[in-house]
Amino acid sequence: MNYDIADRSLAELGDRRIEWAGRRMQVLAAIRERFEKERPLAGLTIGACMHVTTETANLMLVLRAGGANVALCASNPLSTQDDVAAALVQAGIPVYAIRGEDSETFYRHINAVLDTNPDLVFDDGCDMTTVLHEQRPDQPLIGGMEETTTGVIRLRAMEEDGVLRFPVVAVNDSDTKHLFDNRHGTGQSSLDGILRSTNILFAGRTVVVAGYGDCGLGIANRADGLGAKVIVVESNPVRALSAAMDGHEVLTSHDAAPLGDVFITATGDIRVFRQEHFEAMKDGAILANAGHFDVELDLEALGEMAMSYRELRDNLGEYTLPDGRRLLVVAEGRLVNLGAAEGHPADVMDMSFADQALAAEWLKENAPSLEPKVYVLPVDLDHEVARLKLEAMGCGLEILTEEQLAYLSSWEHGT
Ligand SMILES: NC(=O)c1ccc[n+]([C@@H]2O[C@H](COP(=O)([O-])OP(=O)(O)OC[C@H]3O[C@@H](n4cnc5c(N)ncnc54)[C@H](O)[C@@H]3O)[C@@H](O)[C@H]2O)c1
Repeated sequence: MNYDIADRSLAELGDRRIEWAGRRMQVLAAIRERFEKERPLAGLTIGACMHVTTETANLMLVLRAGGANVALCASNPLSTQDDVAAALVQAGIPVYAIRGEDSETFYRHINAVLDTNPDLVFDDGCDMTTVLHEQRPDQPLIGGMEETTTGVIRLRAMEEDGVLRFPVVAVNDSDTKHLFDNRHGTGQSSLDGILRSTNILFAGRTVVVAGYGDCGLGIANRADGLGAKVIVVESNPVRALSAAMDGHEVLTSHDAAPLGDVFITATGDIRVFRQEHFEAMKDGAILANAGHFDVELDLEALGEMAMSYRELRDNLGEYTLPDGRRLLVVAEGRLVNLGAAEGHPADVMDMSFADQALAAEWLKENAPSLEPKVYVLPVDLDHEVARLKLEAMGCGLEILTEEQLAYLSSWEHGT
């Protein structure tokens, strides 16, 4: 849906929140300054399928400052901040998104953005790219960008099957993205979502975190910092070991189910907690998902098991089971940090979206020589983003002497 431009109060609220986020996105601001002078994206149309948040708004404005025409739709039906959408529309950027949209509207909005004939697509979860491959196979495109782990997994599967049609930059795989956004962003904001919807005290509770990748590690360590006892459920032996040596208890999902007060999934997998676990959980257990899709908690099974369901608070659904136990689900099992809070803080999205902006520029320059594969941004761009962020944070970065550089690159020294 295109927002009513007359809705000024909503747009004004969005404007102020976009400005507030922008103040903590100094790397993106530096890129914007250069883009305004150099206009590296001039002549490009960009279609974005991303969470419609204040941080995304800042990215859209930077892409436009670089000369691109931009249109935006949501990458998740629950993550749209309507005031942000209204503010962007008022600023002249078409937005097709409304919080709580149904599946049909979600896909109609993706198609509306694709109708603008984008040269580049910015995706978060690969939904727009999938629509392009399944429903619009003849639409020409220069390339794409992918923001999240789950989207990159889908793209690599497409590359392997030989069906990927254009080059895509896996922005998620830049160190300045996943080591900060996934860890610190998801870590903090997932707990923020649970706090806003429940207002529980984490101290003294048992929090079960499924998945100890970047997101799970961030969540587990933040929960630990709030005084919770953390149990990690992980299927990769090295990551499970890493969780154990970080001081967490590591158990199977079966053994963790009766112990947890709060369960948080961050695996990218399906049905991580399902009927057999719900049967063992305590009365009052709270379930939330931080993974990209709403498939990590088997809510279909929970719905079938339950005698009744009600919305207890904003973004908190309560399922009552025949034996009287109540299980609570935050934000319908969708991305908890975006469904029940505001998503990642701007401070980390600064780096993720700086990577996105630089990826667009890099793709435009290099597309003619690229194959339809998944690419990672060159490491010098990754380091440039880190350098700019360090500068903005007032940190010092050690410069090696000529002697040290020679020493570190030589095999002839020392006995
Ligand atoms: N909420 C957000 O804003 C946000 C931000 C970034 C990424 N994500 C999403 O979060 C998910 C995780 O991302 P990541 O970067 O941490 O991925 P990752 O691949 O680094 O980590 C996932 C971990 O889950 C483990 N795992 C898989 N299936 C499991 C199962 N059934 N039980 C236990 N462990 C299992 C894997 O072994 C892996 O260690 C993805 O869907 C990603 O797209 C969400």
